[in-house]
Amino acid sequence: MRGNYVTILSLTVPNRNNCSGVFTRSNLLTMKTVKYTKLVLIVAYALSLALPVRALGSAPASSHLNLMPVPASVRLETGRLAINGSFNVAVKDHTDDRLRAGIARMLTRLAGRTVLTLPADLTADEGTATLVVQCERAGDIVPSLSENESYSLEVTDQQARLVAPTVVGALRGLETFLQLLQGDRDGYYLPGIKIQDQPRFQWRGLLIDVGRHYEPMEVLKRNLDAMAAVKLNVFHWHLTEDQGFRVESRKFPKLHALGSDGFFYTQDQVREIVSYARDRGIRVMPEFDIPGHSTSWLVGYPEIGSAPGPFKIERRAGIFEPALDPTREQTYKFLDAFLGEMAALFPDAYMHIGGDENEGKQWDRNPQVQAFMKAKGIKDNHSLQAYFNQRVLNILQKHGKKMIGWEEILQPDLPKEAVIHSWRGPDSLAAAAKQGYNGILSAGYYIDLIFPSSQHYLADPIPLNSTLTAEEARHVLGGEATMWGEWVSPETIDSRIWPRTAAIAERLWSPRTVTDIDDMYRRLSVISYQLEELGLTHEKNYGMLLRRLAGSDDTGPLRTLASIVEPLKEYRRYQMRPQTMLSPLTGLVDAARPDSETARQFAANVDAFLSDAPRFSLYRPNLERTLVEWQTAGRALGPMIDRSPALKETRPLADNLSVIADAGLEAISYLSAGDAATTEWRDAQLAKLNEAAKPRAALEFVVITSVRKLVIAAAELPQLRSTTPAEWKKRVTIMASPPAAPS
Ligand code: ACM
Repeated sequence: MRGNYVTILSLTVPNRNNCSGVFTRSNLLTMKTVKYTKLVLIVAYALSLALPVRALGSAPASSHLNLMPVPASVRLETGRLAINGSFNVAVKDHTDDRLRAGIARMLTRLAGRTVLTLPADLTADEGTATLVVQCERAGDIVPSLSENESYSLEVTDQQARLVAPTVVGALRGLETFLQLLQGDRDGYYLPGIKIQDQPRFQWRGLLIDVGRHYEPMEVLKRNLDAMAAVKLNVFHWHLTEDQGFRVESRKFPKLHALGSDGFFYTQDQVREIVSYARDRGIRVMPEFDIPGHSTSWLVGYPEIGSAPGPFKIERRAGIFEPALDPTREQTYKFLDAFLGEMAALFPDAYMHIGGDENEGKQWDRNPQVQAFMKAKGIKDNHSLQAYFNQRVLNILQKHGKKMIGWEEILQPDLPKEAVIHSWRGPDSLAAAAKQGYNGILSAGYYIDLIFPSSQHYLADPIPLNSTLTAEEARHVLGGEATMWGEWVSPETIDSRIWPRTAAIAERLWSPRTVTDIDDMYRRLSVISYQLEELGLTHEKNYGMLLRRLAGSDDTGPLRTLASIVEPLKEYRRYQMRPQTMLSPLTGLVDAARPDSETARQFAANVDAFLSDAPRFSLYRPNLERTLVEWQTAGRALGPMIDRSPALKETRPLADNLSVIADAGLEAISYLSAGDAATTEWRDAQLAKLNEAAKPRAALEFVVITSVRKLVIAAAELPQLRSTTPAEWKKRVTIMASPPAAPS
């Protein structure tokens, strides 16, 4: 899948940094000083979140708000609402099962977090209730794009009051309520606060590809819970792929029977997921990817394919030739019946027809297809696919559905009702909007590529430099994180989705100006642990996978190694180590996680240490401790690898761990002694670091640049005499920036 790697990358990368430098930390701090002059602090969302509560009354200096996504408007007040065993909830005006179930789930989580036994029943007494939830109406029967998700939440010494036009708004507010919980030596409490909140974009989704790897029901459910926790509202269920057809069709039972290895969702299970999602205010949009990505359809029904077959379920990753035959009426009859069946099963207004990466090779070789094109004056495969899309759109309209497809469907004559899903770069989204098409963005949100949260966070559906008019910008409905399924199993998928998707959720919900990366990471780590209370396994399975590899509970050295390597980014993992969909996903590359927090912390400490020139004492003990830990782990890994052949491929990483640590420790000792390292020493260390930077076992170290900085700094020490420490550090940083990627 998505085999056109170079195109993808060159198109997506420029998207990422569009907002940087506009709202810097120092800007925010200046603004903060101004606001401090007021008694009641009325502050912009981002500002209030970075604001120590110290200034606001009785709370301790270290508390921060941990809201994610940041609400549209936050006003901190003095005072606090104690949360204790007498906590209770009253509902006012509209109430229904969905609201009561949402409150019950909130209570379970609140009790779990505080270890307080809380009353299960609602109280009838609004006056004495700790939390009053006041809704006007139920909201849409089928969750919709136009659902009102707004709410307001006010917390005083006496009471918290959540007011929302719909139950969905109340559910969003209950998540905020839980995120406001804080604790100190006096117990749990919520700070006094006034929040008014609504999303910036109406379409905030997560795609889960269950075609390549099937994900059991509990995986989907816990991810729906996590989505709700960060206010995402569309589950894009990518149900069909070359590698698997995952939904039961009663009309065409050979689809799932022959196309899924027995791993598919029954129609009852689909209804269960739709209902589970609705309970959380989440739409479920299915995708049936056609005309390409369709090998699994053709295993049972080769007659709708463009080549004679027979076809087998695809086991590899990549882009494959099989495609539906767009020239035969039989194909449209089939699609009419199948999509009609699915339209009745999935109540959402939208149906995704894929449409991506069809190279039309089978069409080129099929004389009947060629004759059809000639007869109809269809000049190329793009136009033939446009013809196909038009026919599919008519079918969907007949069944009451709106069509959405990947950006390849944007062809001349595409009816304006179609929605464009941009994935190769943000330009297609803007181009679609300019032509009057609604669209959503996934370019920049490809979480399968293992990029850090910070990059996803800065990808904005309507970047600051956007040339869209206000009218055109209204066509940008939002975006979706995409969890493509090549290299995820039920054990690892959560760690590829979370916590990074929470940063994307914030991008899609919060005002555009919320872009402080340090503060995002601060809140992300809090939210990450809170997601565990919903059963998400991104944290706990890390330990489990390491234990399995080590064959022991004593995983210390392996954990140290895993904490500073990341799976190869983009599509390099597959290029380095081709596996199939049947390969186990239990190696160190599967345990290791994106966006290493240890590496980020180490980089920050190295920066602080170098900023402390010429003293070099700030963070020195911390850096030395860390590097000694790496050195020790590097040595201890040898015997562990001997015992566990599954770890054999990681031996060079273990060796390099010691190399990296030695280089860093030597550099620190030069710097703190005020002794300049020789250029020979520097070059020898850099050569070793370059070697260590090469990927091994589909993993790469993510601390090399920081260590390189230390090494270069040690050799650049004499330059400190003739320049300011700040200039010197800048020079070291530039000299240490990574060399061109090793080939
Ligand atoms: C895609 O990634 N081919 C939509």
